[in-house]
Amino acid sequence: MTAEAPRETLTTGAVPTHGRDTGPLDEPGEQVVVRAEAVSKLFAVEQGWFGRGKKDLRAVDNVSLAVHIGETVGLVGESGCGKSTFGRVLLRLLDPTYGRIRFEDTDITKMTQRELRPLRRRMQIIFQDPYSSLNPRMTVRQIVGEAIQIHDLAKNSRDEEDMVAALLAKVGLRADAMTRYPHEFSGGQRQRIGIARALAVMDKNTGGFVVCDEPISALDVSIQAQIVNLLQELQEELGLSYLFISHDLKVVEYVSHRVAVMYLGRIVEQASNKSLFERRHHPYTRALLSAIPVPDPARRRLRVLLEGDVPSPIDPPSACTFHPRCPKFQKGVCDVETPPLRELVPGSEHFVACHFPEDA
Ligand SMILES: Nc1ncnc2c1ncn2[C@@H]1O[C@H](COP(=O)(O)OP(=O)(O)OP(=O)(O)O)[C@@H](O)[C@H]1O
Ligand SMILES: [Mg+2]
Repeated sequence: MTAEAPRETLTTGAVPTHGRDTGPLDEPGEQVVVRAEAVSKLFAVEQGWFGRGKKDLRAVDNVSLAVHIGETVGLVGESGCGKSTFGRVLLRLLDPTYGRIRFEDTDITKMTQRELRPLRRRMQIIFQDPYSSLNPRMTVRQIVGEAIQIHDLAKNSRDEEDMVAALLAKVGLRADAMTRYPHEFSGGQRQRIGIARALAVMDKNTGGFVVCDEPISALDVSIQAQIVNLLQELQEELGLSYLFISHDLKVVEYVSHRVAVMYLGRIVEQASNKSLFERRHHPYTRALLSAIPVPDPARRRLRVLLEGDVPSPIDPPSACTFHPRCPKFQKGVCDVETPPLRELVPGSEHFVACHFPEDA
């Protein structure tokens, strides 16, 4: 697939009636925080029971994507399609097999972890399960303080404590949380601790990039909105940029300025929030969207059921990897030629990788 890097777009504020949307950027290129250029990530996995050798599992396949300052890019797709792997590669928590990653003006593809350390202050991750990502034997004071220590940000212990207290206040936790352990908190509160830890090292003057990997999926529905709102407030206050990973399209529609839809490691559709949800050119996007329960029956969309399971990324289908499940499949085309990610209407910033995209 020849994934074309989309042209730059700048985000404006939230558009509450339909999630968020983007407007054109005056000076393309200036506002990018992080950019993946034709990034692939392969894992070597054992095949068979008797050690018949290793095979490549292509978790991320030739993905190009840019995130701009203050922007939230939503990344959606079914389980196992490569969302987390891509997020980790962007942060260089995993090394890309092919392609390049830029953070602001720096090519970080080949940087050592030591060289990356100063940049880590502006590249963070928030996990789905705040419990397993917080050390159960450490107090909240120690968990958040540790991040501050790693980057040597406090003058002394008193200063560190003040910083932790300020961070807890920022994420809506009381100061007495400091002396308590993760298990003493509810899921939502634990996610607030995880956010405080990610923010602890963020440079307030320069903003930063945060991969939010299913940050609310493990939480009660009643708590999800609180965490989403907190993330949005922090984004505005600190000028943060997010890659917001989720399999929940409704959440992605609510938080994202732009949305990328992933299928078996590839981006199959990418557009501004509004354009993606209104037009949904790719049959896979349509299928995903049709799975969103719509409360008002009069507005219920035609349900397009996806046939079959997600194929294995070890042995993916030929050409367009969605073809065995696609209602628009045409033999001799879709199974032979990989559709490039292309802008359907020039200037629309709406990209789709399909030979027979749906008109909207
Ligand atoms: N360390 C690894 N070694 C081998 N295979 C891996 C590894 N990490 C991920 N994979 C595989 O790569 C593919 C993508 O996994 P990934 O976790 O990125 O998907 P995901 O979209 O985040 O899924 P989910 O929605 O379930 O979190 C899967 O097939 C997974 O089994
Ligand atoms: Mg994941």
